[in-house]
Amino acid sequence: MQKILVARPIFADVIERLKQHFEVEWNNGDVLSADELARRLADKDGALTAGDPIGAATLAAAPKLRVVSNMAVGYNNFDMAAFNAANVLGTNTPDVLNESTADFGWALMMAAARRIAESEHWLRAGHWQKWSYDGFLGVDLYGSTLGVIGMGRIGQALARRARGFNMRVVYHNRSRVAPEIEAGLNATYLPKAELLREADHVVLVLPYTAENHHTIGAAELAFMKPTATLTNIARGGIVDDAALAEALREKRIAAAGLDVFEGEPNLNPALLTVPNVVLTPHIASATERTRRAMANLAADNLIAGLGEGPRAGQPPNPINPEVIGRARS
Ligand code: GLV
Repeated sequence: MQKILVARPIFADVIERLKQHFEVEWNNGDVLSADELARRLADKDGALTAGDPIGAATLAAAPKLRVVSNMAVGYNNFDMAAFNAANVLGTNTPDVLNESTADFGWALMMAAARRIAESEHWLRAGHWQKWSYDGFLGVDLYGSTLGVIGMGRIGQALARRARGFNMRVVYHNRSRVAPEIEAGLNATYLPKAELLREADHVVLVLPYTAENHHTIGAAELAFMKPTATLTNIARGGIVDDAALAEALREKRIAAAGLDVFEGEPNLNPALLTVPNVVLTPHIASATERTRRAMANLAADNLIAGLGEGPRAGQPPNPINPEVIGRARS
């Protein structure tokens, strides 16, 4: 039987599914250090990860490893050049999380715009004595302009929600989406700086790559309206968190909603000291149904990628399909 490592705690019934095909080593505890991960992968044919960094050194220490299945749509934790050089297949879990993640992006944007977390903290702290006409005044979503940066599957799911709020949708993306998609979403493509000037609510839904590092920094924040909100449900590092904390403190933008952070689970301490930001611990896809779907899809990818089950050799979500069938190098 081939051997696999499941590097993180996941649903126990998914472990049972994997055991039908593999000898499973399961880390049902703390996140493994890079050294410990490499040590445990030394004799494995496959691995199921969730954000664990896998680069050239780890692959070199695991000469039998042929498939690494990430339980996430984003795979910036994989060094894909190293995967390709070693003929290791990487897989991810797209689509099954689109709607839950878009729902959460919407919730975070609304919480920021309407100061829901900030006012709740104030209430819990016992400050509420009387109703006040100017207590926690926020900014409207209805009838405003939504700016989506990253018009992929999740960006499109967000844009679809804008219709019910009578919002104008502007977007920026590496390349324009097909005219029929633009028409269906009633979305207008804008260069990034123009989008930032025009949008009332900016939501980031783009993958993290070297080029996307600090897509939003001090210069970009300066383009935004003082009444605008910024929501990041994409990845830490896409926003310069220090620059954002300063802009929020100085009210150069109204508010922000952040589900992802540079260096998470640690975060820039300045963010904890500004009231006008809603902070959540990377939970945009976290519904029971969606996390189960992601875990099962990650298992499907690993099973098929390692030549098992009804789809043997044809995993549903290969990131680098060109390596399928090549000998490990
Ligand atoms: C979560 O962040 C994911 O990439 O699925």
